[in-house]
Amino acid sequence: MEYRIASISGDGIGPEIVEEAKKVLNKVGELYGHRFHYEEVLMGGISIDTYGVPLTDEALETARSCDAVLLGAVGGNVGNSRWYDVAPNLRPEAGLLAIRKGLNLFANIRPAYLYEGPSDACPLKKEIIGDGFDMVIVRELTGGLYFGERHTEEVNGIRQAVDTLVYSETEIRRVAVKAFQIAQKRRKKVTSVDKANVLDSSRLWRSVVEEVAKEYPEVTLEHMLVDNCAMQLVMNPGQFDVILTENMFGDILSDEASMITGSIGMLSSASLNEGKFGLYEPSHGSAPDIAGKGIANPVATILSAAMMLRFSFDLDREADAVEAAVRQTLADGFRTADIMADGMQPVGTEEMGDRICERLTDSLK
Ligand code: IPM
Ligand code: MG
Repeated sequence: MEYRIASISGDGIGPEIVEEAKKVLNKVGELYGHRFHYEEVLMGGISIDTYGVPLTDEALETARSCDAVLLGAVGGNVGNSRWYDVAPNLRPEAGLLAIRKGLNLFANIRPAYLYEGPSDACPLKKEIIGDGFDMVIVRELTGGLYFGERHTEEVNGIRQAVDTLVYSETEIRRVAVKAFQIAQKRRKKVTSVDKANVLDSSRLWRSVVEEVAKEYPEVTLEHMLVDNCAMQLVMNPGQFDVILTENMFGDILSDEASMITGSIGMLSSASLNEGKFGLYEPSHGSAPDIAGKGIANPVATILSAAMMLRFSFDLDREADAVEAAVRQTLADGFRTADIMADGMQPVGTEEMGDRICERLTDSLK
């Protein structure tokens, strides 16, 4: 089959890690008889430098016309005045929010599991890690606080800022359905995270999630307050299967979940619309401090490409092969700096990509 992929390298380490993900995709193509065509799309700081805005309408349309989007990362140091001394809607991150909204990518799927090899990078105590953990965070991505009306004003000489948090039942229902569908294929448990002891939007969230749960009787639903969830993630991560939550809580909890895996450099993500279309990006940011040094960990982006194969192209066998190749590469001891441990073989970004490609090839021998 042939597929058209919008490729958004973005800023910082973005170009380096996207390069490795494409290398792996091309290897998959070679081994399994597919062709991937890439449309280069500018977004973030690089788009600001070129067009003065973080995402042009044309870029959005190009992305929409493709079968899926592969993204590195956007943004830079807040000290970069060219990108940050401007209105918030012109900063690099605004491009990311705009593409998510513009393509209706309301369900953000962020898996967090502990790899056997790099579990030594996990900051939790052995007793807590137990048999490890394997969870998926389903984060609502196009509503809530990040998309509500906001402004800063001065009232009687005092500055005040307003952000609004709105959720309709339609927005809650559609992301809840995704979470239950995913849970059905896993260990059949959804933990819906909210702040229903304080927020109206959370109380609505809870009641809509309960309605959806009735349609999935084989899936167990539990509710958890977000502050408790933050604590449970470091106390007993093994209890979670699918965590379903709203935009801001999901933003925060997914960083926390990624860190207990040892490195945010390992965590992939998919942002999906109602159908098969999705945007695939690592959960981490653009890491401007290490950009261009060839030391960034490309694994999260490569695993995001595997999610693309699975969710957008229905190429499960190929996705399994990429995931297995990543596992094997780690098991063979290859480590980028962020997950380096005693006795392991240090590699840079490019070599990590090469090693994964080698193991992909070997898996078909
Ligand atoms: C993420 C990032 C973004 C978000 C930022 C860069 C706007 O933190 O993907 O988690 O909050 O969604
Ligand atoms: Mg985040």
